[in-house]
Amino acid sequence: MSQAQIIDGKATAERIRAEVAVEVAALKAEHGLTPGLAVVLVGEDPASQVYVRSKGEHSKAVGMHSVTHLLAADTRQDDLLALVETLNRDPAIHGILVQLPLPKGLDEKAVITAIDPAKDVDGLHPMNIGLLAQGQKALVPCTPLGCMIMLSDALGDLTGKRAVVVGRSVLVGKPIAQLLLAADCTVTIAHSRTRDLAAVCREADILVAAVGRPQMIKADWIKPGAAVIDVGINRVPFRDPVKAAAGKTKIVGDVAYKEASAVAGFITPVPGGVGLMTVACLLRNTLTAAKRIAGLEA
Ligand code: GUN
Repeated sequence: MSQAQIIDGKATAERIRAEVAVEVAALKAEHGLTPGLAVVLVGEDPASQVYVRSKGEHSKAVGMHSVTHLLAADTRQDDLLALVETLNRDPAIHGILVQLPLPKGLDEKAVITAIDPAKDVDGLHPMNIGLLAQGQKALVPCTPLGCMIMLSDALGDLTGKRAVVVGRSVLVGKPIAQLLLAADCTVTIAHSRTRDLAAVCREADILVAAVGRPQMIKADWIKPGAAVIDVGINRVPFRDPVKAAAGKTKIVGDVAYKEASAVAGFITPVPGGVGLMTVACLLRNTLTAAKRIAGLEA
């Protein structure tokens, strides 16, 4: 049986970061403009700490101005909103990202809505979500943007393809459905209440899995030759009882990768796939925001 072509997130992310670095250098040289990214982390969630550190390091590596605000878990809503307001007004900052989830007691929607939509490099402000739904120029959420770049690289023109998105989250499922629609795909959003989910998935030329259920999507859910984009990042115990007993865990996606690879035409691995694209696309969005704010977009 033929094996799916692997869509390499590492190589694609490296390419995006290299392209961003070239553009940042040109902006500095030609316009004296250094794109600036502010990342805000509230609390000490270990996974979020890793992501936030990575965002800071990568933004510096491409030549951006980078600031990270680490706030205590018991930060008050008013104080967080005041920080967002300060960043909104700071001319050295073009992108603001408040890492989610926020600790209990903080109102995520209010915080995201307080961010200046022009600096909303997460693309989660209602204004950007609305612009995306209208098919207008918007800042687009980073993970969906990464998925679209990988799909375009693998398949070229997506016009007319049947796309099924499994998952309807605000962060991934809904925006990727909008982006696929904007690329002229015929889009279905499936979810936990969808009847005969396997049959719906089998119709897909493009199958995007964003449900957060380890290895839920099996080989016989996949149309032969389909492009499978796995957004899942699930931490599970090892099957090996010795490793499991030692408390060791590994990361798997929402797709049963090994068996799916024997059916799909293209597939993203986990780890090494979509996850690596998120930070690269955050850098791209920060560059885009800086250019738009300065009126320099081509
Ligand atoms: N937490 C997990 N993914 C994301 C993301 O893309 N943006 C933000 N702000 N928080 C996240």
